[in-house]
Amino acid sequence: MRPLADLTPSRYAQRRKQLMRMSGEDTILILAAAPERVRSRDTHHPYRQDSDLLYLTGFPEPEAVLVLVPGREHGEAILFCRERDPDREGWDGPRCGPEGAVDRHGMDDAYPITDIDDILPGLLEGRSRVYYHFGRDAEFDLKLIGWVNRVRAMMRMGAQPPHEFLELGHLLDEQRLFKSADELKLMQRAADISIRAHELAMRASRPGLYEYELQAEIERVFRLNDAVPAYGSIVGAGRNACVLHYVANNALARDGDLVLVDAGAEYRGYASDITRTFPVNGRFSPEQRALHDLVGAAQAAALMHARPGVAYQDGHEAAVRTLTEGLLKLGLLKGSLEKNISTGAYKRFYRHKTGHWLGLDVHDVGEYRIDGESRLLEPGMVFTVEPGLYVAPDDQGVAAKWRGIGIRIEDDVVITRDGHRVITDKLARSADDVESLMATA
Ligand code: GLY
Ligand code: MN
Ligand code: MN
Repeated sequence: MRPLADLTPSRYAQRRKQLMRMSGEDTILILAAAPERVRSRDTHHPYRQDSDLLYLTGFPEPEAVLVLVPGREHGEAILFCRERDPDREGWDGPRCGPEGAVDRHGMDDAYPITDIDDILPGLLEGRSRVYYHFGRDAEFDLKLIGWVNRVRAMMRMGAQPPHEFLELGHLLDEQRLFKSADELKLMQRAADISIRAHELAMRASRPGLYEYELQAEIERVFRLNDAVPAYGSIVGAGRNACVLHYVANNALARDGDLVLVDAGAEYRGYASDITRTFPVNGRFSPEQRALHDLVGAAQAAALMHARPGVAYQDGHEAAVRTLTEGLLKLGLLKGSLEKNISTGAYKRFYRHKTGHWLGLDVHDVGEYRIDGESRLLEPGMVFTVEPGLYVAPDDQGVAAKWRGIGIRIEDDVVITRDGHRVITDKLARSADDVESLMATA
């Protein structure tokens, strides 16, 4: 697929402006880049920018700090970043440098990161409220305390240190929760790449493959399209499908197994998150199909509640009800529907929630409850709908034919003005559709 254009510097500027409007006049907002993480000795994990810094700047480098100072005459958006360094750039690749931060990233001002101790106390001085992510990076927390103390030490000379410290997430998480049209375009691309990847894995599937071979099919499609996995791909055959965060992906997929694939591409920072569960040999057994149909019905029930003005929680409750009813019909649960729901007996087969916000982070930011109540859905919110059923391989309380079956169906949904759109809708979902897709290998 042809690459999509990056967001323009003016879009990032708009986001910063919106955040500063919410924070108010006498504030200062401080955001640090994600640190580089060592993988082993002198090799690092692939660098991934902090999602908040990415959202507000698009700036891709480590060792950077964004400072927003609403109303500051000499510029409101200031970036501290690494200076150009031809020697280091020969090893690690080009750096933007403070000049590039202004010219290419639309900052009002930029300084070398090495000057931050000298400059930041002066920016804090006279601001009464500091917005910051306390407790995310202990080392940076200490630095901030040090800068504030520097201003406090100058109080006798008339300096005014900040006196309120507020969680930045209160403002920024809410802003990020509502996706704009240009973000939805990128999320649709991430979804489209993932759809292609899942289709390829289904078509490649046959008994005797290892789980990692299917993972390779999927991640090959991600890289072919300038994307990376948004999270560790889960490829669980047979009973491994019952391990919710299975990561080993090294077992053999045998004839008669189902494979659960939970894998999503991240494109330009935006995640997708898709799960499909398909038979390794292309045909569902009657038990596999019965449970797969039930999970599909639970997803459809949850989706009925995906529209503005409806409580987020309603989708989960609808899924739980449908799953529990079905489990009773199939004989995996016994007793009354209400009792199985109120006691949580259904959790023996369905332990997780039916979804989560989706965006720059796969489990994206944003409150689920407000004042103790489930929040109401609004246009622009994006979340997953992902019911599942997992029958433990050693569950002696059910007939042997059900044991070890794990199924999840996960799609990505955006709330629109009058309902919702499933952005992963093009991927085969029902047992029949999955079988026909696999038959056209
Ligand atoms: N892939 C992580 C999740 O489904 O929440
Ligand atoms: Mn998910
Ligand atoms: Mn998932």
